[in-house]
Amino acid sequence: MRHIAKFVMDTAGGERAKFMTAKTPAGLIRLDSGSPSFATPPHIVDSVKQAIDAGHTGYILEKGVMPLLEAICESIAADTGATVSPSQVLITNGSSSGIYAVMTCFLDPGDEVIVFDPSYSLYPHVARQIGAVPVPVRHKADYQLDIDAVRAAITPRTRLVMLNNPNNPTGVVYREADIAALLDLCAEKDLLLAADEAYCKLMQPGQVHVPVMKYHQHLDRLILLGTFSKSYAMTGWRLGYLVAPPALIDYLYGIHRAINGPICNFVQRAGIAALRGPQACIGEFNAVYHRRAALMQRLAAAIPGLYPAQPQGAFYLWTRFDLPQSAREVKARLFERGVAVRSGSEYGSGGEKHLRISYSVSEETIEKGMAVIAEVVAELAREAS
Ligand SMILES: Cc1ncc(COP(=O)(O)O)c(C=O)c1O
Repeated sequence: MRHIAKFVMDTAGGERAKFMTAKTPAGLIRLDSGSPSFATPPHIVDSVKQAIDAGHTGYILEKGVMPLLEAICESIAADTGATVSPSQVLITNGSSSGIYAVMTCFLDPGDEVIVFDPSYSLYPHVARQIGAVPVPVRHKADYQLDIDAVRAAITPRTRLVMLNNPNNPTGVVYREADIAALLDLCAEKDLLLAADEAYCKLMQPGQVHVPVMKYHQHLDRLILLGTFSKSYAMTGWRLGYLVAPPALIDYLYGIHRAINGPICNFVQRAGIAALRGPQACIGEFNAVYHRRAALMQRLAAAIPGLYPAQPQGAFYLWTRFDLPQSAREVKARLFERGVAVRSGSEYGSGGEKHLRISYSVSEETIEKGMAVIAEVVAELAREAS
């Protein structure tokens, strides 16, 4: 049999991929989705039709189309007061390829990258793929950042910290004081920090997202990973960007281009429409996410043995369970019974005994899915007793 690299077996042969490639049973209730359930707003869709008609179909030989680079700089200035030049922005294939470029650009084999545990599973996957070492740092009990734990994890091989705010899978929005302390620590230790702010516009009422670019004194060590996927319901368009200090951006451009080639020309025009067009869609999405989060939280809290966290951002409910089975086993049983969720352990060992349940689905689907979850949790508890 042909030799398959260990990395591929560990990743593509691993839990997530096996689950993703498993045959989807008819009628499966998808509470595992990372995709907004909304259609892309019509003004964004129209902009791409016009862009195609206008002939924007050739290669883009620069880091991105200039009006999009400018629109990104304007939105950063409006949100954070930071002055960023279009030459510091690179358009990426969603933020996934930006994450890949950042790790590939700054980590040699054996170099260490700090990843909060739990957080988005792509970070350790990519780090391992290039021979670097993901160093998991647990959160505090409330899933906020533990700065002392970060300090303790830093070694002479540490190069980079990956921050994911709001956090996938916990839905936690990090506190301002902790973000400031983390950035100060990065400065003290001369580390880069890459901030994945994919869900920054999807906030529950009363929550405030603190963008890292607000800390202007740290701009020389900050890389922002942005995406249109979640905020504008554009996951399938594959449009993201990264912003980096002037001294680093061209290295990122070079490596990104080698892996991805240029990003689709007319889709970039849709990004301009998204940023410069009406923003009402985001408020509308958030109002719906708020209702769904409240419903899911209430139903989960009523299930004996589940201890859901209060959703703060993104569109995930994070819940601890008090059962002897592992998160993987609970997920597998739910899948057999027709409900897909994500096991917390996919996001790091700190996610063991947890599930991530997506509320990016209709209220009817939430009700149906949570009813099955209640049955399965009761069944697993009976089997254990
Ligand atoms: C935290 C986080 N970052 C990045 C991404 C990648 O999204 P995209 O490549 O669509 O921008 C995801 C997708 O689920 C995510 O959850």
